Amino acid sequence: MIRTVATKPFDDQKPGTSGLRKKVPVFQQPHYVENFVQSIFDALDGFKGKTLVLGGDGRFYNREVIQTVLAIAAANGFGKVMVGQGGILSTPAASNVIRKYKAFGGIILSASHNPGGPHEDFGIKYNAENGGPAPEKITDAIFAKSKAIKEFRIADGVEVDIDKLGTVKVEGMSVEVIDPVKDYAELMESLFDFDALRALFKSGFRMAFDSMHAVTGPYGKEILENRLGAPKGTCRNYHPLPDFGGHHPDPNLVHAKKLYDDVMSAAGPDFGAASDGDGDRNMIVGKGMFVTPSDSLAVIAANAKLAPGYAKGISGVARSMPTSAAADRVAEKLGIGCYETPTGWKFFGNLLDAGKVTLCGEESFGTGSSHVREKDGLWAVLFWLAIVAARGESVKDIVTKHWAAYGRNYYSRYDYEEVESEKASALMKDLGAKLGSLPGTKVRGLTVEKADDFSYHDPVDGSVSEHQGIRVMFAGGSRVVFRLSGTGTSGATLRVYMERYEADPAKHGIDTQEALADLIAAADDIAGIHSHTGRPKPSVIT
Ligand code: G1P
Ligand code: ZN
Repeated sequence: MIRTVATKPFDDQKPGTSGLRKKVPVFQQPHYVENFVQSIFDALDGFKGKTLVLGGDGRFYNREVIQTVLAIAAANGFGKVMVGQGGILSTPAASNVIRKYKAFGGIILSASHNPGGPHEDFGIKYNAENGGPAPEKITDAIFAKSKAIKEFRIADGVEVDIDKLGTVKVEGMSVEVIDPVKDYAELMESLFDFDALRALFKSGFRMAFDSMHAVTGPYGKEILENRLGAPKGTCRNYHPLPDFGGHHPDPNLVHAKKLYDDVMSAAGPDFGAASDGDGDRNMIVGKGMFVTPSDSLAVIAANAKLAPGYAKGISGVARSMPTSAAADRVAEKLGIGCYETPTGWKFFGNLLDAGKVTLCGEESFGTGSSHVREKDGLWAVLFWLAIVAARGESVKDIVTKHWAAYGRNYYSRYDYEEVESEKASALMKDLGAKLGSLPGTKVRGLTVEKADDFSYHDPVDGSVSEHQGIRVMFAGGSRVVFRLSGTGTSGATLRVYMERYEADPAKHGIDTQEALADLIAAADDIAGIHSHTGRPKPSVIT
C-alpha cells in the first residue's frame, strides 16, 4: 500500500561538496531520510516509469536506507530500481551502471572516506543521468524542497531481499538486484590491455591493494586476483565492513600508513595502492616513491596513449583549483585544453560531457576520466599498472623522469580538523578582507603577486560559482590556497594547500616539507592560522 505521510522540514539538509553527510544518529531521526529522499524526487522532473540506480559503500545504516529509498521510489512512480547486491555499489560502479543502462539517475549511499558505524558518518548523494554528481542547480533545488516539504510518499512494508540476484516487484515497480562488480569489470577490460597486465604479474611484479575494509574489496578481488592473476594475498582488507574495521577508509599517508611502510620496506611489494570507503579515491605508492595525486594526474596524462582506451589521445585535462599545476605543463606540451575548476567532482561533469576533457583530477586522491562521471580509484590503479607494464620501468623511475621532463611541483596540504566553525569563518573573513592589500607585500622572502577569492565560470553552461577558495600567488609561481571543507560533519575543517614549482632536476630530491618551509610559514603569517584557531599544527598533513 502506498501512503502519503505528513512531515515537517529539517533545516539542515543542504548537500555539501558531495551530497548530504551527517552522523548516523542524525539520519536515524524519524522522517530524516524520508524527507531528504522525497526532496530529491521533488526536485526532479519526468522520472515516472524510468530507472533509478541504487547502491552504497556498505557502511552502517546502508541496508536500512536502501529499503527506505526503494519504498519511496516505488511510491513516487519510478518504473524500476537497479540495486547492487547486498546494497553495494562503488561510486564509480554506480556511475557506470547509470550510464550503461541509460537510467534516469542514481542514489549513492556513502560518506566516502569518513568513518562508519553507529556514531559515525552516513551520506546520501544524487547522481544525474550522465552518471555524475548532481550539479549545483539540482542540489540547490533539493535543499529548497527540503525546507518546504510537507509530506512524503512511501510504500508500506517494503523488505526486498537485496542479497538475492534477480527481479522482484514492489507496488508495480521492478527491483532488479544486480551483480555490483560485473559491469564495472567489463568496463575496465575495455579500457586496459588485460593480457599485458596478466603478463606483468606473471613476470613476478608484486603489488598490494588495500581496500581498507570498504567497498572496493570485491572489485579488487575480481579484477586483480581473478581476472589478472595477481597472487592471492594481493588484496588486503577486502571484506567490506559496516564500520570499516574501526578505521578511516581514507587512502593517504596517515590512514594507509601500513601499506606505505610495507611498500617502502626492502622485502615489500613493488607497488601499493589503496582506495577509500566508496571506491572513488586512490593512493599510489611505488618502491621509494609516493606519488602525489597531483603528480599522478600529470603522469597519467603524459602516458595516456599507453592504455588502449586512450590510444587516440586525450582531448583535455581538468583539475580542481587547489590541485597542483603539474598537469597543466603536460597539457601545454600536448597542446590540449586545461581547465581549473572548484573543488568537487561535480564541476568536471560539464567539461566531460562536452568532450572538452578526457582526464580529471583532484589533489585529494581523486583521479578519473570520461569513462564514468565520478573519480575512480581502481581505474587509476589499473592505469598505473598499465603504464608500468608498457614502459617496463618502476614507479620511481617513471615519476623521476617525468619531473626531469616537466619540472616538479612540490606540494602539500595541511588540514586543521574540527576547528570551531566561528573561528574558521572569522579566519576566512579576515583573510578575504585583506586580499586587496596583499599584492606587492613581502612575506618570508616571498613577494605576493596576486591574491583573490577563486570564482569559476563554467565554459559550458555559463554558470558562475563564487567563493571557491582564497589564492595567494607569489612571484615565481609558488602559491598558498585556503578553503573550508564542504564535506565535514562536525565543526569546520580548514584546508591549506602549498605549492612550489622547481624546474631544475638537481633540486628535485628535496624533502617536500623542507622545500615548502617558507610557504608554510608564510601561510600562517598571512592568515593567522595559529592565532585564529589556536592550533599550532595541522591535524593531518598530506
Ligand atoms: C573533499 C576534497 C575534494 C573532494 C571531496 C569529495 O572535499 O577536498 O577534493 O572532491 O572531498 O571526495 P572538501 O572536504 O575539501 O570540501
Ligand atoms: Zn570517496
